Order: sequence, then structure tokens, then C-alpha cells
Amino acid sequence: MSVYFRQLFAGRDFGASNAVCCQMENFVYLVGDTESRECVVVDPAWAVDEIVDIAEADGMKVVGGLGTHYHPDHVGGTMMGFNVEGAARLTSRCGCKLHVHELETPWVRRVTGLAQGDLVQHQSGDHVEVGGLRIEWLHTPGHTPGSSCFRVRTNDGTDALIAGDTLFLRGCGRVDLPGGDPDEMYRSLHQRLATLPDTIELWPGHAYGGHHASMGSVRRSNPLLRPADLATWRDLRGV
Ligand SMILES: [Fe+2]
Repeated sequence: MSVYFRQLFAGRDFGASNAVCCQMENFVYLVGDTESRECVVVDPAWAVDEIVDIAEADGMKVVGGLGTHYHPDHVGGTMMGFNVEGAARLTSRCGCKLHVHELETPWVRRVTGLAQGDLVQHQSGDHVEVGGLRIEWLHTPGHTPGSSCFRVRTNDGTDALIAGDTLFLRGCGRVDLPGGDPDEMYRSLHQRLATLPDTIELWPGHAYGGHHASMGSVRRSNPLLRPADLATWRDLRGV
């Protein structure tokens, strides 16, 4: 089994005709198995048909969506007066479901309009199987209650963390939006993700500070990952 893995940059690889999309610096990921030729879309948003067309041009069939969190620039919905296409278009076109963390379910349903039956709920430690590939579900709350990262690890040396808005190369996700929790973000960055090796490659939800890098280099350059106790963290975040 070989991994199919593509990072798509919003406004360049898809959604180029959408002026708002072009400003957001979002990433969407296609992850799958090159033998079964199945893949999932991580954070389907902005121009879903273009994203699915890219997968299909590679000979891949989209069999599901994974949502890192409920924000409309990741799963679609209404954002600051703009209507963002998203997971509802994916489930409709591909006849598939959107996988979300169980705590994110009501938030995702509210912004996307998806029914309960359109979702598959997960907990930390679950695996999503795509052909022969097993994607590990890591619950990393803080940016939102059910914010999640996805680990793609195989025997051939692939080790990737798709991090949504939990961690960027520069900084981390905001904690002042509805459902945000600065103390949980501290625990996600300094406890939950602290167990990952320096060699794992970080693939963020936005291009803040770069497109991808090893966790080791991000630990050296991102001040929010420097050792800190919770009190210091609260001072740093102004809470
Ligand atoms: Fe977000």
C-alpha cells in the first residue's frame, strides 16, 4: 500500500475565482491509498467540485470527508456574510459522509446544515480506514471543542500530522472564537501533541509561516511550543 497525499492551496490549486477564498490561505488535503484508489478530503471547502475533480484526475475516488473543526473556511457555511461551499456539496456529489469529532457535531451541523446521518462521529484514538490506509484521530481541543488532528503513518516511512487550526508553522489557532478554550489549547500543544516525534511532518490548515515542516523545526521556531507552564501560557495569551 502506498499513500496518496496532496496538499492543495486555496486560491491557487482551487477556488481561484473566489476573492474571499484567495485571501484565506487555507489548505485542503487529499489522503488515500494508491492501490485501492480511494481517498478522503480533509476540510472540504470553498470549491468542492474543483477539489473532487483534482482527485478524480489523479484516478482517485473520493469516499469521505474529514473535518478538523466546524469553521466555515474548513467545512463550509456562512462566514461574515459570505456563503462558503463545503461538506454539504461533498456528501451530495460523492454520496459519502463527513467524519467529525463527537464534540464538534452540533457545531458542524449548525454551520453546514448537514443531518446527523451525514456525519460519522469519532473519539481520540479512532482510525478512519481508506483502502488499506488507517488515519489516526487525535482530539486536540482549544481552537474549538472538537478540533482534531489526523496522523497518517505507514511502514514506508510516511509520518504526517494534518493539524487543522490547532497548530501552524507560526503560531496556533485562535482561542477567542465561540467554543474556544485557551487552557485546552495549552494542553493540546504542550501535552497531547508533545508526545509526537520531532520527525513527524506538520501539515497545517493555513499557510501561516509556511506550508509544512518537521515538528522538530516547528518546536525550535514557534514560540508557542516553547516550554511553559499554564500560568505563563495564560499571560502569553492575554487571558
Ligand atoms: Fe478555524
